[in-house]
Amino acid sequence: MKERIVLLVALLAPMGALADGKVETEYRQAVMKSIGGHMVSMGTILKNRVHFEDLALHARGLAALAEVAPNVFPEGSNTEKSKSLESVWKDPEGFAAAMDKFVVAARDMAEAADSSDMTRIGPAIQALGGSCKGCHDDYKAE
Ligand code: HEC
Repeated sequence: MKERIVLLVALLAPMGALADGKVETEYRQAVMKSIGGHMVSMGTILKNRVHFEDLALHARGLAALAEVAPNVFPEGSNTEKSKSLESVWKDPEGFAAAMDKFVVAARDMAEAADSSDMTRIGPAIQALGGSCKGCHDDYKAE
């Protein structure tokens, strides 16, 4: 009996974590803020021509976060504090397409930054910024 209870608790714990929409909202917003932090850092570097040697680090950090971004919108996570629109879950195909664009743009930016070639970096950061806006316009509240 005791063993059965231990097994039950072990099974329930991860399910409980998945069902906690508030935690999922918090985590999603933290991931987005980190993505935003890297984006602002890169903008500052490129606009002011400072700390150029850090550009690739931010681009790689953002690209790494882009890999987990598709996993931070689970069902049941549109809680009170969430600024996600219902369309995230009502239009999964459109949302996935916007996400794919972003993931590809983030990878391109990381490669461009690694090359230090400004003729690649300019268009890459513009495409990346466009992919944020492309999703926010349709899936995020103001
Ligand atoms: C595929 C959709 C999608 C893409 C791509 C995307 N975002 Fe978001 N972002 C969202 C949604 C939806 C929210 C609202 C999250 C919530 O509150 O539930 C959000 C929230 C944010 C926030 C606010 C976080 C907070 O709570 O303070 C920032 C900052 C942000 N995104 C930055 C970015 C940047 C910068 C990019 C591009 C480099 C980006 N996002 C790409 C969908 C996206």
